[in-house]
Amino acid sequence: MKVEPITQPSGNPDFNLTGGPQAIKGAVNISDVLKNKCVTCHGSQKQTGGLNFETPISDAQQASVLERITTKDATRRMPPKGELTVTELNAFFQAMGVPAK
Ligand code: HEC
Repeated sequence: MKVEPITQPSGNPDFNLTGGPQAIKGAVNISDVLKNKCVTCHGSQKQTGGLNFETPISDAQQASVLERITTKDATRRMPPKGELTVTELNAFFQAMGVPAK
């Protein structure tokens, strides 16, 4: 599995994380998903689990993100409350170079 780095939301405005060669119809920007659903706990203010989506994250952390957003184990799934929509999940998959579900 090839995993592309998630670029920081605020870093490079020209880098469109949803804009791979084949942008998924109705896709949302991964930066917005991170901002809306993750950064309150994993951002510059608060780096729960040592994770800060406002800075580049390591390969290991990326693998961890993939596991945490897809696991069926509710005690590990992210975000802890509420669910990601299919569109939001696909934004992650696309940003990471994983085929959309
Ligand atoms: C309400 C706060 C909260 C939100 C929102 C949240 N998380 Fe978490 N996250 C946590 C807590 C607390 C932990 C550490 C406890 C644990 O491992 O479950 C954690 C751990 C993680 C880890 C494991 C870190 C590691 O390397 O061990 C990942 C990956 C992760 N979150 C991803 C996400 C993603 C992606 C989102 C947004 C879709 C998100 N989280 C939203 C609270 C949150």
